[in-house]
Amino acid sequence: MKIITDIKAMQKKADELRAIGKKIGFVPTMGFLHEGHLNLIREAKKRCDTTIMSIYVNPTQFGPDEDLDDYPRDFDRDCSLAEKEGCDIIFHPDSKQIYPDNYLTYVEVEDITSVLCGASRPGHFKGVTTIVTKLFNIVKPHVAVFGQKDAQQAIVIKKMTRDLNLDIDIVVAPIVREKDGLAKSSRNTYLSGDEREQALVLNQSLKMAEKEIKSGERNAEKLKSAIVDLITRQPDAVIDYVEIVEADTLAPVTIITNEVLIAFAVKIGRTRLIDNIVVQV
Ligand code: PAF
Repeated sequence: MKIITDIKAMQKKADELRAIGKKIGFVPTMGFLHEGHLNLIREAKKRCDTTIMSIYVNPTQFGPDEDLDDYPRDFDRDCSLAEKEGCDIIFHPDSKQIYPDNYLTYVEVEDITSVLCGASRPGHFKGVTTIVTKLFNIVKPHVAVFGQKDAQQAIVIKKMTRDLNLDIDIVVAPIVREKDGLAKSSRNTYLSGDEREQALVLNQSLKMAEKEIKSGERNAEKLKSAIVDLITRQPDAVIDYVEIVEADTLAPVTIITNEVLIAFAVKIGRTRLIDNIVVQV
């Protein structure tokens, strides 16, 4: 597995791969890899000849009071996990190259970035769409794979790709969970043993809501209240938001008549966790 840190070198390599007809699959990450990321590599490998993973903790998607400095990092471990999974190239740039002095250009998707996580993390998606666009221009992929765990991010990236006519297939891979249902996340490492136990309520509440919908409940407000009730029984759980929205547009839903996305962000102690489920009626 090759490690490339220089932007020009990555672009040259991508051009060479394209020139010999290789299909490039791209997995953008912020590192500290877990099974969810490794599954994204597998999805890229199924569809492409060469798999490139980026590892870059992008400062512009973190708010001033967020965990940029604490965000877990272990580059050597990431490399050995990615290599074992058959990743061909790791692209690992530094911030001096990505955001040089006097950097002035951003990419922004409107509307769908100001709800759910966008409402409580202003500027977050502007940072995501900017870095993803830059990475697309550097890695030049045919296919890029994102995780359903960040459901809103996946919808925003798909919209950006369509709106800007980017010639890239966006693939969204299912959420990978621990055996007890907790969605895999690099931020799970922040949880104490007790907080991790409490965090199990997140998947339980999604399952409960799904069961209610399958048994005929159609009132989104009632379902949201039931989710809030269940989650807030945990002593250290503080809800950021619970939303039920149209699965492809994030438009609010009052009466469920179609496929919906149930999504939330909850702080357990100091750790903000997100989770979601798509339910078909
Ligand atoms: O999902 C992530 O890890 C990040 O938001 C991404 C897409 C790598 C952009 O920094």
